[in-house]
Amino acid sequence: MKKSPFILAIAGGGSTYTPGIVKSLMVRLADFPLAEIRLYDIDSQRQQIIAPVVEKVIRDHSDSIKFTVTSDAEVAFSQANFVFAQMRVGQYKMREQDEKIPLRHGVVGQETCGPGGLAYGLRTILPMVELIDLVERYADNNAWIVNYSNPAAIVAEGVRRLRPQARVLNICDMPVAAMRNIAAILGVDRHQVTVDYFGLNHFGWFTHLYVDGVDRLAEVREHVARFGLLTEDAAATDPQHADPSWVKTWRNIKPIMDHFPDFLPNPYLQYYLMPNQIVEHQDPDYTRANEVMDGREKKLFAAAAEYQQTGILPDAFHVGVHGAFIVDVACSLAFDLRQRHLVIVENRGAIANLPYDAMVEVPAYITAQGPEPVRMGNVPQFHRALLEQQLASEQLLVEATMEGSYEKALQAFTLNRTVPTMQHAKAILDEMIAANQDYWPALKQAFKDGQ
Ligand code: G6P
Ligand code: MN
Repeated sequence: MKKSPFILAIAGGGSTYTPGIVKSLMVRLADFPLAEIRLYDIDSQRQQIIAPVVEKVIRDHSDSIKFTVTSDAEVAFSQANFVFAQMRVGQYKMREQDEKIPLRHGVVGQETCGPGGLAYGLRTILPMVELIDLVERYADNNAWIVNYSNPAAIVAEGVRRLRPQARVLNICDMPVAAMRNIAAILGVDRHQVTVDYFGLNHFGWFTHLYVDGVDRLAEVREHVARFGLLTEDAAATDPQHADPSWVKTWRNIKPIMDHFPDFLPNPYLQYYLMPNQIVEHQDPDYTRANEVMDGREKKLFAAAAEYQQTGILPDAFHVGVHGAFIVDVACSLAFDLRQRHLVIVENRGAIANLPYDAMVEVPAYITAQGPEPVRMGNVPQFHRALLEQQLASEQLLVEATMEGSYEKALQAFTLNRTVPTMQHAKAILDEMIAANQDYWPALKQAFKDGQ
């Protein structure tokens, strides 16, 4: 690894998250020195809207960092030391389909969970592999890809199967967002909280919450029983996670822990453990994708337009744990800091009674050579069974993508806990095939209907 300052490329440069990530980089320049930031996106029009905002954020902090905006992979990745990946294949328009198609069948419609997440996986695995190949072709030999691209569990499994040697570290900000709320509830800084956690991405549990070596889970459990995973006035969270739908999600930790008080669940478990209530409270014509398009995206685009006209950049994006976390992880990789973070890694015994090769989410020490997972031991039968079912659904989806297999896709959908029957699975899958024509690999049926 070159010692620094680094060349960093952001793949998915046109994302609404880009300004927040770059702002996080700017406030951490002393820890993570940068020579150049490159934005890369295949949607150059969208990226051109975001780029001036990003440039302003950089120039407010540094005159010397080179700033490059490109849709050319060679320009983006040549000699790059780090790539932050945050691609959204099909953009919010396809997220809307992922959410609305299942809902029409009375099934959870969500970005990364249930049929929506499986559909998103079918769109993302192969483009992610393409990105890895481009980075490998052009970037520094020791470059790391730090990957936020969703659905992270499925993407991680796809990468493990298709590019097992790639220097990719898959991460998600949900555990660290939960830790931010936990810290606020306990009245401590989030960096003081050390956790034990086991599961898959968006499907796991905190088993211990240590502050200065003392486990405070019991205190948090009592708090959750009254308010969910939020401070009493719901102010513990950052602007993204303070939207009404997110507040509802934090509050839903309460019913889950009322039933299963032993561990603190990842908020995404609401979709698997209480799907009926989720569907009941969801407007099938106006889902989270609509909220994001009408909220975060519109606000940022409006601010970009205003900045172009007036030279003044309104406050239009937030810098929360999302940006801070990816910079923390990159620092630990770059300088072998061996900081402990929750990341997605090949199991290799970290969860003793899950398959050796499962892609799990556990604490790991992040070294210059990658993550060293911490052993979480055996997990109880209830959690193991839930995890194995989810893992099988996700692994079958990856195989469906690799083999172009309709049958495996149908099995993946049927096995998902959010899907009540095989008929639901087939009806949703068939609608999704039509909606994803431009994105999915062709899925072939080995047995034609009725034969
Ligand atoms: C969390 C999750 C991400 C997910 C995001 C969705 O941060 O960890 O995986 O993409 O929430 O948030 P949104 O505001 O787009 O609904
Ligand atoms: Mn996530």
